[in-house]
Order: sequence, then C-alpha cells, then structure tokens
Amino acid sequence: MREVIRPLIPAEEIARRVEEIAGDITRDHEGRIVTLICVLKGGVIFMVDLSRKLNLPVEFDFMDISSYGNGVVPGGVIKIDKDLENPITGKYVILVEDIIDSGRTLSHLSKHLNAQKPASLKICTLLDKKSRREVYDVIPDYIGFEIPDEFVVGYGLDYAQKYRNLAYIGILEFIEGE
Ligand code: IMP
Ligand code: MG
Repeated sequence: MREVIRPLIPAEEIARRVEEIAGDITRDHEGRIVTLICVLKGGVIFMVDLSRKLNLPVEFDFMDISSYGNGVVPGGVIKIDKDLENPITGKYVILVEDIIDSGRTLSHLSKHLNAQKPASLKICTLLDKKSRREVYDVIPDYIGFEIPDEFVVGYGLDYAQKYRNLAYIGILEFIEGE
C-alpha cells in the first residue's frame, strides 16, 4: 500500500481563514485576557498561527488526550494524558481543536473544562466533519472549514504521526501496490 495525499485546502486559504477567525475572536473578547487551550498534538500549528493574529493578551495551556491510537478508525475511549497546568476558573477560555469528527472528544473535553467554571468557554476548530457527528451536545463557536467525510492530514493533523508539518491540508488515500 502506498500513501498518496490529494490536496484539499491550500496553505494560502488556511492563512486567510485563520486571520478571519482571529478577527472574530478578537472582536468577541475585547478587553479580555484569553486562555487558549490546545489539544495536543493536532491543534498545535493552528493554535500558534491563530494566536499570532489575535489582537488580545493571550495565555497558552495544553492538554493531551488519547482516543484514536494511530489508526483511522475512531476508538470509544477518551483518556486525559496531560491536564491543564493552570486553573481556568473565571477565565475566558478558547479550546482550540484541529478537527471535530464524531464530537465525542469535544463533548468529553467541554464537560471537563466547564467543571472548573471558566467565565466563558468557546470552541474553535479548524475543521469540521459535520456529516460524521454522533454527539450533538456541543456546537463549535468558530469553524475554519467544513470538510467532507474523508481522512485528512497536514497543518497539524497526522496519520500514524506523519504529515503534521505539511503546510496544506490534504486527503490521505491508500493506493494498491508499491
Ligand atoms: P472525535 O472525538 O470523533 O470528534 O474525534 C476527533 C479527533 O479524531 C481529532 O481531534 C483527531 O485527532 C482525530 N481525527 C478525526 N478525523 C481525523 C482526520 O481526518 N485526520 C486526522 N485525525 C482525525
Ligand atoms: Mg485532536
């Protein structure tokens, strides 16, 4: 099996959309200090690029969870491998995600974060595979792109830890043969 990547969203288009979302977030959080929470590792590139376009004071924190393993098929269990370093009680929080698929991760994470009683919790995702949604209790506030039901890589997203550093987002395809 050979892995081939078919381009879906070019780097320039991502950059343009990131700037637009940053404008929306800046407008919605005027006068606030914002805590960006990145879900490792897929959200790293998006969060860093987004943060540089925000016209607000910003703090970073990181969480690591496991749900998928290294494959394409979603697993049922979500485990927190690394929790926040600082409490978010009373803070203006934005959870930055690479992609929302079934919505299970998001649902689990927002319950976990809301339990700390932040002043506000907004959800920002670069990609939304809306047609795959199984859990509907959390609706993202900021969405980069709605994409079809395909497995995508690049701009933070991986397949078996590969392709995160691609500047664009592409659809991963498996071709028979060498
Ligand atoms: P959910 O819990 O089903 O919404 O899964 C979300 C997580 O699955 C994302 O944060 C990704 O880590 C992973 N995921 C879902 N779809 C893709 C994809 O197309 N490419 C890479 N990772 C994906
Ligand atoms: Mg993720």
